[in-house]
Amino acid sequence: MVRMEPKDITEETQNWGHEGILCYSKICTHVGCPIALWEQQTHHLLCPCHQSTFDLGDRGRVVFGPAARRLPMLPIEVDEDGYLAARSDFLEPVGPSYWERNSPSYWEKQEKKFFEEEAAK
Ligand code: FES
Repeated sequence: MVRMEPKDITEETQNWGHEGILCYSKICTHVGCPIALWEQQTHHLLCPCHQSTFDLGDRGRVVFGPAARRLPMLPIEVDEDGYLAARSDFLEPVGPSYWERNSPSYWEKQEKKFFEEEAAK
């Protein structure tokens, strides 16, 4: 979980967070190392194992390194009691890309369903 200046976050990414607070998986999508090297000035998160770098201001987009897909993001909100809460599960697989997964179409359906439900609110 990170807090960034809203001006450093793309509009699409802001929709998944709350006032600059964003929540991402901490497991690298390359081969699963825990990621924790935060570069505040560039808003990049660096994996110490093979230097994959993710832009947290742009939905965890890969900007460098061997990771083949972005860092999964958890959509959050503030609930009626004032606590940060997940609006859904992760909408794409968490962890390294080599694990057995459901077909990509499953995750595409999950993401589509989430956005349809969000639009209906
Ligand atoms: S496990 Fe993160 S770059 Fe390889």
